[in-house]
Amino acid sequence: MKKVSIGVVGAGIYGNYHLNIYTSDKNVENVVVCELNERRKQQAEDKYGIKGYSSVDSMLQNEQLDAVSIATSDPYHFDTAMDAMNHGIKYLFIEKPLATTLDESYQIVQLAEEKNVRICVDFHKRWDPAYNAIKKELKSGDANLIRGYMSLDDIIDVPTKWLNWADKSSPAWFLGVHCYDLIRYLTGSEVETVYATGNKGVLANQGIDTYDSMQAILTMTDGSNWTVENAWVLPNTFPKSNDGQLVIVTDNKYFKNESYRGLEQYTSEKASIPNYLFMNFDEEVPWGFGIEPIQDFVRNIIENTDFRANVYDGLQATKIANAIHESVITKKIIKLEK
Ligand SMILES: NC(=O)c1ccc[n+]([C@@H]2O[C@H](COP(=O)([O-])OP(=O)(O)OC[C@H]3O[C@@H](n4cnc5c(N)ncnc54)[C@H](O)[C@@H]3O)[C@@H](O)[C@H]2O)c1
Repeated sequence: MKKVSIGVVGAGIYGNYHLNIYTSDKNVENVVVCELNERRKQQAEDKYGIKGYSSVDSMLQNEQLDAVSIATSDPYHFDTAMDAMNHGIKYLFIEKPLATTLDESYQIVQLAEEKNVRICVDFHKRWDPAYNAIKKELKSGDANLIRGYMSLDDIIDVPTKWLNWADKSSPAWFLGVHCYDLIRYLTGSEVETVYATGNKGVLANQGIDTYDSMQAILTMTDGSNWTVENAWVLPNTFPKSNDGQLVIVTDNKYFKNESYRGLEQYTSEKASIPNYLFMNFDEEVPWGFGIEPIQDFVRNIIENTDFRANVYDGLQATKIANAIHESVITKKIIKLEK
């Protein structure tokens, strides 16, 4: 394939990143957008000079697309993915999580296999240079993993102001899947069991019926144990929209990574600690580890090479998040389905 024609579904916060990246990619020849919200659709049309649609069906009927890029809210990836595959689209880029139920994830995998569709899931932490340095070091020598800790938290504006669908997601679906996937990526091993707890209160008191925080202990097939903590109620005064940590202990190595990348910025309005490695849109071609998965999606299609995070990785993360929810409710240790 010479150049790729792509339809982006959802022009919210993340869909705009997709649009920005595709419209500045020389390997993409046509970008269109589908957005239910008329104002957002119009803004995307104007900003990127592209054609907009109000339904996935009309976009698929009227355009000759090679790929569909899904940036709808967490619970609405499924319908678009199924519609696109049934229409004959052969490449999908799906924002994490793949879907918010196990049944939907299995249906996506099954249809993708039947119709020979290749799906990439946006687990951008696989592109973070710090984690890749850790992965390389873990692979070299004879380190045996003992334990790991990972946290990824958001400020409370995210579920209360940025998203109007937080009640249909959770810290595990929105944040946790990044961690579960990274742990699989770093260790090259699978989760065997999970035990988890969750707290509700802060968001529920504001009419948003979901967990404030979820904590999980994962046991892995390589014998290591991991603690994963995700909350989305951090005070808005935190100088970044999210925070995170990764700590790993092996029998002869120790790793520690903070999402704080050493840069502090103070203006008369605010203090911030920007992650300058994540997304940069100031240059002609955007760059950063949050951008690369989307650029690689196009490159992998053209070169017919493997996606770094595929539909099976999406399914595994969904299995883990699903088991974590089950454990929170039942208070039992859940063994993961093979
Ligand atoms: N990779 C990451 O690190 C990362 C970070 C943030 C968000 N995300 C994911 O990106 C997705 C979108 O998040 P967001 O923050 O942009 O949310 P958002 O609410 O800002 O945007 C979602 C948009 O999808 C539109 N939409 C929903 N269903 C649609 C449909 N059937 N057809 C067309 N448009 C539809 C909504 O109108 C809305 O504008 C979520 O799944 C989220 O988890 C990923």
